[in-house]
Amino acid sequence: MTSIALREAFHREFMTFFERAERTRRWNVFDDIPWDRLDEVPARDELALAAETFCGIEMFLPDYLQAHLSLLAGDYGQAWFSANWGYEEAKHALALREYLLRSGRRTETQMREFGDAVTARHWEPPYRTPRQMVVYSALQELTTFVSYREQRELARRAHDPVLAEVYRLIGRDEMAHCRFYQRILGLHLDEDRTGTLKDLAHVVRTFRMPAHELLPDREDRESVRTTGFGNGAFITEVLLPSLGALGLTRHDLYSAAATVPAAR
Ligand SMILES: [Fe+2]
Ligand SMILES: [Fe+2]
Repeated sequence: MTSIALREAFHREFMTFFERAERTRRWNVFDDIPWDRLDEVPARDELALAAETFCGIEMFLPDYLQAHLSLLAGDYGQAWFSANWGYEEAKHALALREYLLRSGRRTETQMREFGDAVTARHWEPPYRTPRQMVVYSALQELTTFVSYREQRELARRAHDPVLAEVYRLIGRDEMAHCRFYQRILGLHLDEDRTGTLKDLAHVVRTFRMPAHELLPDREDRESVRTTGFGNGAFITEVLLPSLGALGLTRHDLYSAAATVPAAR
């Protein structure tokens, strides 16, 4: 069980996150996406495949939520965060789905079959403790942000104003999620630096993005998964900025890694 002081600090972080979200970051699928510009959407298969792929990853939300909530007994700060986070993530899948349908890039039948293929699979949380899941979430949200930033740039270059705006709105949410998890991780570091660094080293070494391998016909999607993540981009775009945000260096990670057993 997490200490009372830590739980109270989590709650304060949640309130800061929530206030900012309510005041500056709320958007809705119906009014805030330029659907009046659908006639400008180019018929580019790779953009549609990427939108469908990210929609599919977001559609594992029930599994993600269940995993988070099951680890948080008695911790209301993080439970309220998970509820709010789930609402925001739900919009990500819905916005991408609406884009695919309204632009005519996918039919209702195709989306239903895709949804059925997704829901036939089940995502399992990769870590078993709340603190390791916080580390994982901080890295995963930033990786997701980088992916959406890349996709937004591709959509912009293809002159697709609708998809570019969908990705901008989603990416802004992902960055806010990442910052929240980084702050929670900072609180963990303050409370138990050695243990938290060990968790960080362990998760960094075993990190994988969720659900890509669960999507149907995955070979087709390989190029989507790796867009923006060639040649060590995980290190430069995700790991080093995350360490920097936590006031850590690679040396801190190496020292902690030396104390982590090799097998998970
Ligand atoms: Fe998302
Ligand atoms: Fe997110």
